[in-house]
Amino acid sequence: MSNPLSLVVLISGNGSNLQSIIDSIEQGRVNAEIKAVISSNAQAYGLLRASKHGIASYVVNHRDFGSREAFDDELQRILKPLDADFILLAGFMRILGSAAIQAFADKILNIHPSLLPAYKGLNTYQRALDSGEVEHGVSIHLVTAELDDGPVIMQARYPIAPGDNNEDLQQKGHKLEHRMYPQLLCWLCEGKIEISAGQIFYEKTVLSKPVEFA
Ligand code: GRF
Repeated sequence: MSNPLSLVVLISGNGSNLQSIIDSIEQGRVNAEIKAVISSNAQAYGLLRASKHGIASYVVNHRDFGSREAFDDELQRILKPLDADFILLAGFMRILGSAAIQAFADKILNIHPSLLPAYKGLNTYQRALDSGEVEHGVSIHLVTAELDDGPVIMQARYPIAPGDNNEDLQQKGHKLEHRMYPQLLCWLCEGKIEISAGQIFYEKTVLSKPVEFA
């Protein structure tokens, strides 16, 4: 068996995606190790999840830093020695600066609650409802300097039923999200998905459209 993937997970809140990754590792479905959790919010429930599972955690609150660069420097100072194979953004509510993104090129992934490139940014459920969409979804993408803009690796879609509200979409989305990072991590372990020089390879071929996750 190949070496476990080493991971750092960045969160700001509940951390249900973090929990799904922890569970997939503890249940032996994913061969990985979470070296640390970094939260931008000291009150994040995800920090309790990390400590319950004996995972080291750090809080880096942007309010403690005079500039975006200083916040970014602190993140890099923590991330560098951890030397993770992948840095997973899972509800991390800060934008990483381009220096950090360059320092960890091909290693930073994000899960976003929309079918990118549609609905970048915040409040994606409400915006999709307000626009009368009949489906919505989740994307995992490589992080680049532009917000929610890097190549999309994997997407899952679900229907919006008449009468669905914000919470309904969130529930549908989360149900899929909690299977997506674990599945992607399996594929990264197996080498089925590889990331190099900003490109995604699926079974050694450049991915031309996101893998549909069902
Ligand atoms: C998820 O919906 C994710 O797509 C978005 O933030 C949310 C985080 O949820 N980026 P949780 O903290 O993992 O529960």
